[in-house]
Amino acid sequence: MIQTPKLLADKVAVVTGSTKGIGFSISKEFAENNGATVIVCSRNEEQADRAIKQINGKVFAAALDVTDNSSVQKFMQQILSVHDRIDILVNNAGYPFDREIWYKRFHEVTDEEQEKIIEVDLKGSIRISKAVIRSMLQNVLNRNGGVIINISSTPAIAGHIEGSPYTIAKAGNIALTKCIAMEYGSSNIRAYTLALGNIATLATCGSMTEYDRAKAAAEPSMKRWGKPEEVAKVAACVASDNFSFATGNTIIIDGGTVLLG
Ligand SMILES: NC(=O)c1ccc[n+]([C@@H]2O[C@H](COP(=O)([O-])OP(=O)(O)OC[C@H]3O[C@@H](n4cnc5c(N)ncnc54)[C@H](OP(=O)(O)O)[C@@H]3O)[C@@H](O)[C@H]2O)c1
Repeated sequence: MIQTPKLLADKVAVVTGSTKGIGFSISKEFAENNGATVIVCSRNEEQADRAIKQINGKVFAAALDVTDNSSVQKFMQQILSVHDRIDILVNNAGYPFDREIWYKRFHEVTDEEQEKIIEVDLKGSIRISKAVIRSMLQNVLNRNGGVIINISSTPAIAGHIEGSPYTIAKAGNIALTKCIAMEYGSSNIRAYTLALGNIATLATCGSMTEYDRAKAAAEPSMKRWGKPEEVAKVAACVASDNFSFATGNTIIIDGGTVLLG
C-alpha cells in the first residue's frame, strides 16, 4: 500500500500554552496525524509532562512563560540543544478568560488589567517570535525557513461589545503576523493569523452560564461552537508546505460569523 507522506514529517514545532484547550489539540494533531516533533509547553513543566502522556508520537514537554524573558531564553537553549532547530511556532498562549475584566466597559478597565492581557497575548507572542526567528535565520540547515502562526480572535476583525483589552491585544497579533510576513518572506519564513470564533474549551464554553453558552452558539451561521480539533486541522494545513506561496493571511475559523472578502 502506498503511504501518503505526512504533512509535517521532519518538522519541529513549538506550541505555546499547549497542555489543554486549543494548544493541546494543535499539538496532538501535529504529532499524531502529521508526523511533527512537538514541544508541548506550559508555565508548569509537570503539567506539560502530564499532557505529553496523552499524545502519541514525538512529543516533548518544556517549561515556558512567555511573559518572562529569562524563561524564553532558557527555553530556547534547552530546545535548540536537543532538536537543533524550530520549524514551526504556534503562538497560542492566552491570558485566562476573566469574567471580571471581560464584562467591564472600556473606560473602566484599569491599566493593570489591560497590561495583564497584553503581556501574555501580545507581548508574549512578540517575545517568543523574536527568539524563534533569530534561530530560524541562523540555522543554515533549515532551508525551508519556518512558519509562525498567531492565534487571534474574530473580535479583532469585527469588533465586539465586550472584552476590549482582549480585542486590542488580539488585533496586535494580526499586525504581528503581517510584520513577520513582510520582513522575513525573503528568508522563507511565513506567518499566519488564525482568527477564531467561539471554540469550546474549558476556558470558554466550560466556564460560562447556560445562557451565555447558548447565546454564543447562536452567533455563527453553523449555529454551534467550534471544536479545538477543527482549529488544529487548519493549523496543520497552513504550517505545511502546501501553503508555500501564501503568507501574512488571516484565516477566520468561526462557523460563518464574520464574512469577509
Ligand atoms: N476558546 C475560544 O473560544 C477562543 C476564541 C478565540 C481565541 N482564542 C485563543 O486561543 C488560545 C487558546 O485558548 P483556549 O480556549 O484553549 O484557552 P486555555 O485553555 O486557557 O489555554 C491557554 C493556555 O495559555 C497558557 N498560558 C497562559 N499564560 C501563559 C504565559 N504567561 N506563558 C505561557 N503560557 C501561558 C496556559 O498554559 P499554562 O497554564 O499551562 O501555562 C493555557 O494552557 C488563546 O490565545 C485564546 O485567546 C480562544
